[in-house]
Amino acid sequence: MTENRRTGAAWLIPAMDAIPAGHDVETAQELAARGITGLRLLHLNESPHPPSPRAVEAAAAQLKSLNRYPAARGRPLAEALAAHSGVPADRIVIGRGSHELIDIATTITTLPGDDVVGPAPSFPGQMQAAKLRSANFIRTRLDASGATDVEALMAALTNRTKIVWCCTPNPPTGGMMSAEALERLAASVPENILLMVDEAYSEFGRAAGGPDVLPIMERRRGPWAILRTFSKAYGLSGLRVGYALCGSDEVARAFRKAMAFFHVASPALAGAEAALADQAHLQMTLKAVGEERSRLTEGLKRLGLSPMPSFGNFVSVKMPFPAEEASQELEKRGILVRGWRDPEHLREIRITVGLPDDTDAVLAALGEILKTR
Ligand SMILES: Cc1ncc(COP(=O)(O)O)c(C=O)c1O
Repeated sequence: MTENRRTGAAWLIPAMDAIPAGHDVETAQELAARGITGLRLLHLNESPHPPSPRAVEAAAAQLKSLNRYPAARGRPLAEALAAHSGVPADRIVIGRGSHELIDIATTITTLPGDDVVGPAPSFPGQMQAAKLRSANFIRTRLDASGATDVEALMAALTNRTKIVWCCTPNPPTGGMMSAEALERLAASVPENILLMVDEAYSEFGRAAGGPDVLPIMERRRGPWAILRTFSKAYGLSGLRVGYALCGSDEVARAFRKAMAFFHVASPALAGAEAALADQAHLQMTLKAVGEERSRLTEGLKRLGLSPMPSFGNFVSVKMPFPAEEASQELEKRGILVRGWRDPEHLREIRITVGLPDDTDAVLAALGEILKTR
């Protein structure tokens, strides 16, 4: 008999043993349900600004028709995104948040024992999706600026690699890939590998002068897709809408085949479409977040810390003591931030850019905490 090394229940697939227990991140909704209000929510990279009133109105208008299923595949939203991006609607796949699309990219490409290559630390969804399919997630280092490192990704490829991920701007570091790095990646990843660009923070990156990723990817010969979301700059985390701009009809068709029917709710589709139409509101958010990100970064420097230069709506900084302690001390003062929770980085915290008042509060609290240490 072979030794049973399983740590999980016998009725679960073995891959489940390798996945860290999901930590319960407390959202505003959960906190409110427990009667906790008034905390500064700087832990989920949400927008501190409410969404466009037009999005709220459009989502609400759908409520009276909830006896009907939503548009299959979210077609009207795909068409609006086509007009906005220049990518044909047939090559745009709508997801229940971009996280669903991370999962689907993995489902359609990756078998047990295959390799998925991606930067770390980064969004953990890519690693979770790979591990769930009993695939190996190969972590590659970031460059000195905290951006995805192309050479590290390329060095990690094997003949079992099915997906290469990059993320730009990359959480939790905030680093952004240059146009040259993206060109090199698009040209170097072999044509039998799906190249995925996670651009959840794309609007912030562009506002900070970052490269336009889409035309760069359009020059790639092999399969690719770019993931974006309405959860961040558009301030619609609660609606759960993301999308994939796919490099070909073939890639988009494969994504669609793997989806549940009617997977995005009608208020979500309508709200996202109205938010897209209100670019003035988006620009207001981007300007406010850009200003506050600078103020937060400068304030952290004045406290003697070394914040990482960020192109997202968050700033990370290494504390002189464990991140866990820093988070707890900040929570005592009514502020939620997030430790990186990466085994190689136990002192870094990530602070979401909030309103001016949040910046003042977090800087004052950190100043106080640092003094008592
Ligand atoms: C880099 C990145 N990708 C994807 C996601 C998933 O976002 P959503 O499913 O809300 O679109 C997040 C969320 O924080 C993220 O930071």
